[in-house]
Amino acid sequence: MPLFFGGWLNWLTGPQSTIDVAGPVAESQRHVFYVTVWVTGIIFVLVASVLTYATLKYKARNDSDEQTPTPPQGHGNPFIELGLIAASVLALVFIAIPTLRAIWYAYDVPAAEKTNALEVNATGYQWWFKFEYPSEQIDGVGPLTTANELVIPVGRAIRINLRANDVMHSFWVPKLAGKVDMIPNRGNHLWLKADAPGYFWGQCAEYCGESHAVMRFRLIALAQKDYAEWIIAQKAPARALTPPSDGALAKTQPAGYAFKNPGRNAPGYSSAFDTDPLAAWLKQQKPAANENPVLIAQGHDLFTAKSCVTCHVVRGNNMGGAPFAPDLTHIGSRTTIAAGLLENNSVNLHRWITRPNEVKPGNKMYLGINGMPGYMMMQDDKLVPHIVVSDEEAPAIVAYLQSLK
Ligand code: CUA
Repeated sequence: MPLFFGGWLNWLTGPQSTIDVAGPVAESQRHVFYVTVWVTGIIFVLVASVLTYATLKYKARNDSDEQTPTPPQGHGNPFIELGLIAASVLALVFIAIPTLRAIWYAYDVPAAEKTNALEVNATGYQWWFKFEYPSEQIDGVGPLTTANELVIPVGRAIRINLRANDVMHSFWVPKLAGKVDMIPNRGNHLWLKADAPGYFWGQCAEYCGESHAVMRFRLIALAQKDYAEWIIAQKAPARALTPPSDGALAKTQPAGYAFKNPGRNAPGYSSAFDTDPLAAWLKQQKPAANENPVLIAQGHDLFTAKSCVTCHVVRGNNMGGAPFAPDLTHIGSRTTIAAGLLENNSVNLHRWITRPNEVKPGNKMYLGINGMPGYMMMQDDKLVPHIVVSDEEAPAIVAYLQSLK
């Protein structure tokens, strides 16, 4: 779609820019924006000019001016009145045509692209996103399920079915498409397409409670071949490492990081991640070179002992898990944690599992869900600690989660 005298706002870049777009749906929405800005801008200039002219010409300059009789008034001049009505209608039609075209275009995948479209389900939870791929079924499990990072192939229309589990949320990837509400008991949808491989920011755009502002996600668009590889890796059950029998490795190899709480206002991203997130994403798919199988085995056991498994699925690691919480089968391969809030690294993961309420106030891991306690539980009308992950225990769980590529 041609830009309507557009381009002059191209300096408005950034991860959530609706001007610096990367797909046809966002492009059509940007077109509507430019048309509207130009039409309303012209109206503003005309009205402001007439107002300025009248103000300067007829203002009282001294006492005798105050006595001057009111100049003849133009009420009821049919030429001006009809002219203004016609101009208003024309301006509205001028805006309405591209707007309606964009609304229909954004509503659903164009007919020509329907057969090749990929269907994905996105469900909003307080405060994270679940993504399912109905076309990628896993035997005895159901559709491939991930959380907070939606991976798609480039150049293909993606139809996203929008659902909500608890309250209203809204699905928005500013550079690709948006935004459409996710409403409980209502089936909404949108579609989008990425023109080139990229790493995009998504955001819940409907107020949904305490941590609405930090309910984010990422959308990663990959070349067809990389996408196919990713699907194969994700459909596999979780990695299981066999620890050496003597446990010597754990004693000689500590966690590999020193934890110091970076604090509430720490950025959450390293500059390397910010500069080239797609490269960071690719790196994240591979197991780390310095994996410690003993530490990982300890983490696996702690993950059960701390009852993390009650809510989190780790498919194939002898763990059940109810789908109340993000599927962690391949958590180690994601670039972000806590719903797109923090870069997925040791320190952030440590902080998230030891101090969840500091990272995301009011989250269900901390407060519990569906009557089950979380890190805290109700006792005599008071919240008391229930699950405690200490700074000493955390490195093992961190190592385990990071091993889940
Ligand atoms: Cu979910 Cu705002």
